[in-house]
Amino acid sequence: MNADAGICYLDGAYLPLAEARVSVLDRGFIFGDAVYEVLPVVAGRMFALEEHLERLARSLAAIGIAPPLTLAAWRDCLAGLITRNGGGNLSVYLQVTRGVAPRDHAFPSAATPTVFAMCRPLTMTAGISVVNAVTLPDNRWLRCDIKSTSLLANVLLRNEALRCGAYEALLLRDGWLTEGAASNVFVVSDGVVRTPPLSDRLLAGVTRGLLLEVMGRGGRPCREEAIDERTLRGAGEIWITSSSRDLLCVGRLDGVAVGDGANYPVASAVLQDFITYRDQRLGSGT
Ligand code: PDD
Repeated sequence: MNADAGICYLDGAYLPLAEARVSVLDRGFIFGDAVYEVLPVVAGRMFALEEHLERLARSLAAIGIAPPLTLAAWRDCLAGLITRNGGGNLSVYLQVTRGVAPRDHAFPSAATPTVFAMCRPLTMTAGISVVNAVTLPDNRWLRCDIKSTSLLANVLLRNEALRCGAYEALLLRDGWLTEGAASNVFVVSDGVVRTPPLSDRLLAGVTRGLLLEVMGRGGRPCREEAIDERTLRGAGEIWITSSSRDLLCVGRLDGVAVGDGANYPVASAVLQDFITYRDQRLGSGT
């Protein structure tokens, strides 16, 4: 599939992605003055739309953009996008920028937010996939809780991971794990699952939140707790999670095998529970 194939949504209209245009004065282009979401669509049905739209609302509020669409309008807008792209398994990307205005760092007195959404095919998780990761210093800003399109630091970190032959960068700030360049991180030690607590240093991942819910319901010991570098390196399992890849296990961290380097029993059980939970929610239309 070409990168620009398919139909997108831009400011109230559906059109071929290859034909979509925004002004070079759009503040999303000039300043990265924009926020976004990525959510999965399974067999044509959006999963965890409300959680994603709640986080979008928080991101918009944090940067002072009034919500351009209601929840119901987003639902209609994205449903139209999914239908026009043939349904199936998709990853939906949506973005809201502050809009078009003469270049000035200060907020414009009047600008209409640009609303854009597109989608692409999504490969669904069937079982555990294993990837390698490297640790890198977290040199991002201190508002990583905002899902901003200003992702230059994340882009450089992820690219550095790829350059090192790994899939993801696990980020350490002052010796403490924050998250991945494009994912949240969980570690398993002595049967207990841990993930760093929410703060301005990491994104409140929707997958992270749902996994905590699923583990809590299943009675599995799990904690939101600060994780130091030693705990990370001594973990029996390390997972990275995101809406586009669910849960991936880290096989090697900085070239060193994680745990026994071959078995991921906690991840396998939790992923299965998560898939069951997702299927139930999709079946009941939530
Ligand atoms: N990114 N942390 C960061 C920095 C991320 O970019 C992402 C996801 C996550 C996981 O959040 P969620 O579970 O809500 O997807 C955590 C998306 C997928 C992206 O930028 O493409």
